[in-house]
Amino acid sequence: MPSPTVVHDLDQAYLTIMQSRAQGTKWGLVPTMGALHDGHLSLVQAARETCDAVAVTIFVNPTQFGPGEDLDRYPRTWEADLAALEQHQVDLVFAPTIESMYPPGCTTRVRPSDVAADLEGRFRPDHFEGVATIVLKLFQVLPAEHAFFGQKDYQQCLVVRDMVRDLNLPIHLSFRPTVREADGLALSSRNRYLSDVDRQRALGLSRALAAAAARAHQGERDPQRLEALATQVLEDAGVDRIDYVALRDADTLVPLKELADRAVMLIAAHVGATRLIDNRVISVVASEAASQG
Ligand code: PAF
Repeated sequence: MPSPTVVHDLDQAYLTIMQSRAQGTKWGLVPTMGALHDGHLSLVQAARETCDAVAVTIFVNPTQFGPGEDLDRYPRTWEADLAALEQHQVDLVFAPTIESMYPPGCTTRVRPSDVAADLEGRFRPDHFEGVATIVLKLFQVLPAEHAFFGQKDYQQCLVVRDMVRDLNLPIHLSFRPTVREADGLALSSRNRYLSDVDRQRALGLSRALAAAAARAHQGERDPQRLEALATQVLEDAGVDRIDYVALRDADTLVPLKELADRAVMLIAAHVGATRLIDNRVISVVASEAASQG
């Protein structure tokens, strides 16, 4: 099996993609921070199915971590990541240094759209500025036709969607469903931090989302009651602190007066020293149509 070409240098990455594109190769890009799991690999798989060649970036981006967050202890699993990408027949792995992505004096930042303001934006104030900035930089260095992101980071998907629209970026986006363990836990690089006991408590997030979705499908339309139900499930599971439980419009993330066609419930909660997020789109009209049909 051919190993992916590993590139650390920005110019080399750019030239590789541009020269290959000139020959008609359609590139798919999967930006990651490494510590790869099956969620990332499902994005790679989707890229392989859609494109002729796949580039994966591995870069733990410092500008999206706030003071006191887990930048220093964020899992770095280079050998295992490379082995997984080789198995998935990735063509190019781009792993730049911090100094090459952010040389001295590199202070320009992307201000994300209003969709970034609340939820994660409230608890991690500069997070989406850092995400939008690095994603734009990666799009520039690796000018692929198509990029793939996981809906596990739902708000991030909307931030990237708006950036591509607002800055007229010539790239097509795909947002892929969250991959879960059999018991519902959403795959996340941060799950590695969880002890066995914490992992059990972490199941509260997916259970809370499932309970709210089930209640919505039974006819509950009041966002506050659905949020209260999810909060109760989280508390019963023994999570340590809840940052938010929010039912929002799935496109804009604005609060809802009543559960409408496409809503999303988003949760952020702390289990031990680990902060976890999860979400679930709740589509009552579609489910009602399905149950009638
Ligand atoms: O989702 C992630 O892993 C990161 O936020 C991303 C998109 C790779 C930017 O650093």
